[in-house]
Amino acid sequence: MTGRHQLERLEREARHLAPGASQEAAAGQRVFAEGDGPVLTDLDGNQYLDFAAGTLTQSLGHGHPEVVEALIAQARRLWNVHDSATPDRAALLELLARLLPGHLDTYALFSTGAEVIEAALRVVLAGAEPGRNRIGAMRGGFHGKTMGARMLVHWDVGHQAFAGNSVLGYSPYCYRCPLELTRPTCQLRCASLVRRHIAGKPNVSALVFEPVLGAGGVIVPPPGYWEQIADACRANGVLLVADEVLTGGGRTGTFLACEQFGVEPDLVALAKGLASGFPFAVLAGRADVMRHPAASEPGAHASTFAGNPLGIAAARATLGVIERDRLLERVRALGERLGDRLSALAARFDHLGDVRGVGLLYGLEFVTDRQSRSPAPDIARAVYTTALDLGLRVALGGHILRIAPPFTLDEALLDEGLGLLERALERVLL
Ligand SMILES: Cc1ncc(COP(=O)(O)O)c(C=O)c1O
Repeated sequence: MTGRHQLERLEREARHLAPGASQEAAAGQRVFAEGDGPVLTDLDGNQYLDFAAGTLTQSLGHGHPEVVEALIAQARRLWNVHDSATPDRAALLELLARLLPGHLDTYALFSTGAEVIEAALRVVLAGAEPGRNRIGAMRGGFHGKTMGARMLVHWDVGHQAFAGNSVLGYSPYCYRCPLELTRPTCQLRCASLVRRHIAGKPNVSALVFEPVLGAGGVIVPPPGYWEQIADACRANGVLLVADEVLTGGGRTGTFLACEQFGVEPDLVALAKGLASGFPFAVLAGRADVMRHPAASEPGAHASTFAGNPLGIAAARATLGVIERDRLLERVRALGERLGDRLSALAARFDHLGDVRGVGLLYGLEFVTDRQSRSPAPDIARAVYTTALDLGLRVALGGHILRIAPPFTLDEALLDEGLGLLERALERVLL
C-alpha cells in the first residue's frame, strides 16, 4: 500500500505533472526516495527488491560506490565543454573497444536511446546508395519516441503509431505466431518471409532490429532465425542495425545479445546498461560505415549533452566494474537459476501462459486461459501491484511482466525476490 507521505507528494505533484506516465509508475503509485544496491526505499520507509533495475539501467544496482565516487570526482572537475575532448574520453573509447566485438571499433556518444537510433538512421541514410531510402523494421519492435524512431515502431507507443516509412518483418513471437504455425514444423517461415522481403525490395538500406525484443514482451528468437535474416541482408547490401539499447551492456549474458544469436551488426545502439542510470548512450559501428564521408560532416554527431564528461565518468566506472568483476559470467549463472525458478512458477499457475528469456532478462506473459491465450493485462497489473505491496518491484507492460534484476544480486536475494513473486501470484490467482 502506498503510505501517507507518498500519497501527500503524489497529490501535490498531480496538480502540475502532465499525464502520460508509464503504466508501472501509474499503477505503482510509489515515491522512491533511495536506492542501495538491489534495494529501493520509498518515502514511507518501505523497502523493495528492484527486479526492474531502475528501468533496466542499474546493472550494478543502485548507487554503486565506484560509480558514485567517479561521478562526485567528475562533478568537482568539469560538467560540459560541448563535445571537446576530456581526459577520460580516450579511456572510455578503449574500454568500449575491449568489450564490443572487434569489428565495432568506432563510436559516437549520446545521452538517450532514441537519440542513438536517430543517429544510426542518419548514418545509414547519409551513406545509402541513391534510391535506397527505406528502412526495414520488425513487428513488435520498439526503438524510442522521437519521430525517426517511431517510424520504425509498428504499434501504438502512447500516441498514434507513425510507421509511415519503414518496411515490416515478422518477429519470432512463437507463443503467438503471426503465421499461426508451430515449431519446429514451421521451419522458421517468419525468417524466410523476412528474407524474401529483403531480397525483393531493392530500396531498403538497413534493417533496424532488437535481437531480443524487449518492450514487445521479451521475445527470444529461436536458433537460426537471425542467421537467416542476417545472411539475406548481407547478400542484398542491407546494413544490420542492432538496437541493443535494452539488451546491450551484458543484460543477456554476452556484452551484446547479437553475439549469441548469430548476427554481426554493422551498427549498434547502446544506452540503458552503460552508465548505471546516468543518461549516456553510444552508437557503435564498423569504421567504414561510421567514417563514410557523407556521415562525417562537421558536427554530425554533436549535441548539447552528447558524451558529456559526467556521462563518460559514469559509463567508465560502470563498464570498468562489469569487465573487472567478470559480471557477464555472473549474468549467465544467475540467469540459469532465474529461468529454472520462473519455469517452475509457470507450471504452477495456469494464467502464466509463457515464460521466456535469456540471461537476466525474462518476460512473464499472462493469459485469461491457456486454450485461448487471450492477453490478461488486468492479471499482470494485479500481480505487479501485489508484488510491490509485498516488497518486490518488477516492470509492467500490458499483459507482460519483465524481470531484470541487477547483475550484482546474490543467489539468496534472487530466491527471496522470486519467493515474493510467488506469493503475489498466489494472492492474485489462487
Ligand atoms: C530497444 C529500445 N530502443 C530504444 C529505446 C529508447 O530509449 P530512450 O527511452 O532512452 O529514448 C528503448 C527504451 O526503452 C528500448 O527499449
